[in-house]
Amino acid sequence: MNQPTMAGVAQLSPPSFVKHQKLIAWVAEIAALTCPERIVWCDGSQEEYERLCEQMVRSGTMKKLNPAKRPNSYLAHSDPSDVARVEDRTFICSEKQEDAGPTNNWMAPAEMRSTLHGLFAGCMQGRTLYVVPFSMGPLGSPIAHIGVELSDSPYVVVNMRTMTRMGKAVYEVLGIDGAFVPCVHSVGAPLAQGQVDVAWPCNDTKYIVHYPETREIWSFGSGYGGNALLGKKCFALRIASTMGRDQGWLAEHMLILGVESPAGEKHYVAAAFPSACGKTNFAMLIPPAGLNGWKVTTIGDDIAWIKPGADGRLYAINPEAGYFGVAPGTNAKTNANCMASLEHDTIFTNVAMTDDGDVWWEGMTKEAPSHLIDWQGKYWTPAIAAETGRKAAHPNARFTVSATQNPVLDACWDDASGVPISAFIFGGRRSTTVPLVTEARDWTEGVYMAATMGSETTAAAAGQQGVVRRDPFAMLPFMGYNMSDYFAHWLSLGKQLAATGAVLPKIFCVNWFRTDENGAFIWPGFGDNMRVLKWMIERIGGKAQGEENVFGITPRFDDIEWAGLPLAPEQYARITSIDKSAWQAELKLHDELFEKLDYHLPPELRQAQSALHQRLLG
Ligand code: GTP
Ligand code: SPV
Ligand code: MN
Repeated sequence: MNQPTMAGVAQLSPPSFVKHQKLIAWVAEIAALTCPERIVWCDGSQEEYERLCEQMVRSGTMKKLNPAKRPNSYLAHSDPSDVARVEDRTFICSEKQEDAGPTNNWMAPAEMRSTLHGLFAGCMQGRTLYVVPFSMGPLGSPIAHIGVELSDSPYVVVNMRTMTRMGKAVYEVLGIDGAFVPCVHSVGAPLAQGQVDVAWPCNDTKYIVHYPETREIWSFGSGYGGNALLGKKCFALRIASTMGRDQGWLAEHMLILGVESPAGEKHYVAAAFPSACGKTNFAMLIPPAGLNGWKVTTIGDDIAWIKPGADGRLYAINPEAGYFGVAPGTNAKTNANCMASLEHDTIFTNVAMTDDGDVWWEGMTKEAPSHLIDWQGKYWTPAIAAETGRKAAHPNARFTVSATQNPVLDACWDDASGVPISAFIFGGRRSTTVPLVTEARDWTEGVYMAATMGSETTAAAAGQQGVVRRDPFAMLPFMGYNMSDYFAHWLSLGKQLAATGAVLPKIFCVNWFRTDENGAFIWPGFGDNMRVLKWMIERIGGKAQGEENVFGITPRFDDIEWAGLPLAPEQYARITSIDKSAWQAELKLHDELFEKLDYHLPPELRQAQSALHQRLLG
């Protein structure tokens, strides 16, 4: 440990509004380990945000966009090696390996602590340690939980301010002895005396570590997204899922939306799609012409915390306060609400910059600008792209924006009590096999569908793309405990709700991504997903019809509202047909998954599986 550096730490004593002795002692302990040059206790003010942004403009981490085009907005370009979540470097360090389960990387906590101690020793030298207090969920609400992230990245601080309820008010909620989840983050790039910093410091060695029993998070080596904004996947999903298991609730990778029919009947639904498979877009959907009078409003776009209410219904909140959304593919046609959200006060990461100081990404406009500075800071033209395949924006380029900038934000989005959920929707990205929409006949069949869901991998995680993998509940990269225990938790919650006499939420399975022989999407998606949502809502109300098949209930062509969309019945058949041989191959993949998850796998799921086998043979 570097004592002389510590002696020089400015502001070691916390400001007067921090009265939590354990927090103060913990900050001192981490500072003693990591040896930062100074400590800054963040207050979450606009002034602090602007100061840090200006500081990052000076250091080269961010560029200020043209205020006439995009007021109060910035563009950050990350290191090309640090662009997405690193699943193979993500660990669940429970005492017992079986509690992390076969889908998670595991290391014994003591061993991991010793590894991390070595990596974190002196890792903040020459940098500032920021103390970032945040609340997941409305401040002071009984459903909310508090975290404190210690980070040496100012980029993390400004993003956390948008993504969470961050700042001074959190200390008031914490008081002198309130509970918080300690989150330690370092980019892992100490600066020697006089060493000039790079624009995006990071380290090739990366560790994203969770201790579920003691509810702690440690992240080393990355400054990007879910690796570094520890309130999001690390806390609100991996740690919160274990809290939910212990306390009888659910932390899910789900958007939450409100949908109102022309008659004024309103429902809330929650939908789990894997990363970069359409949650943000579905959450802000604009109903197409032809479905006039339907309205969709957003509660959240990525994470839901869901608790049973006294009435036997499930109530959901969005623990986040902003969107860290995928930029490529977003445009005024596919998602005008999203484009409107991004007009000002937005941080863009890894998109391209135009000559006039604005942003651009693939799919933003039909025609690309004639030249750009791409996400790696290189000169880019459509001709260069055609020749080299180089993208102007990284496929996992993102925007960070406050939920309050969403023009269709639901009036209840900030309600501490949450909104009642009428249906769960699960969906993957499948170019073949999986039909447009299927309704499960009961809770167990729905849990089976969700548990066996497959999806093609995307740029949201480092590694190969477009490979089908099982992604149960879209939670594969985000589970804090044993996946089979999680299935059991869902089943037992269903039983508990049913025992109250309440009507359980319906469960649906969707796929927007079937392609034709040229690889083009057959289903128009985006706003037209409203046609499927309308069918689901009317199923809930007992108004819409469907037909039973081997998996569940599906709408026939005439059960869907087609006004304004000339989709031929043959095309509809292509995205709804069930190919028996493809499904036999698919069921083999379900078998493989269940073999892997054999330990603690609920017997109900095996029964659901053999019933499916039988129906498929029959
Ligand atoms: P994460 O933030 O990674 O969890 O992603 P997400 O699930 O919120 O996905 P998002 O809505 O950002 O969409 C990811 C990509 O899929 C974008 O490029 C979208 O344009 C595209 N996309 C979204 N919805 C649809 C759809 O209905 N059809 C098609 N074809 N593409 C879609
Ligand atoms: C995801 O990958 O599901 C995201 C982006 O929402 S990140 O915050 O990087 O995890
Ligand atoms: Mn996500």
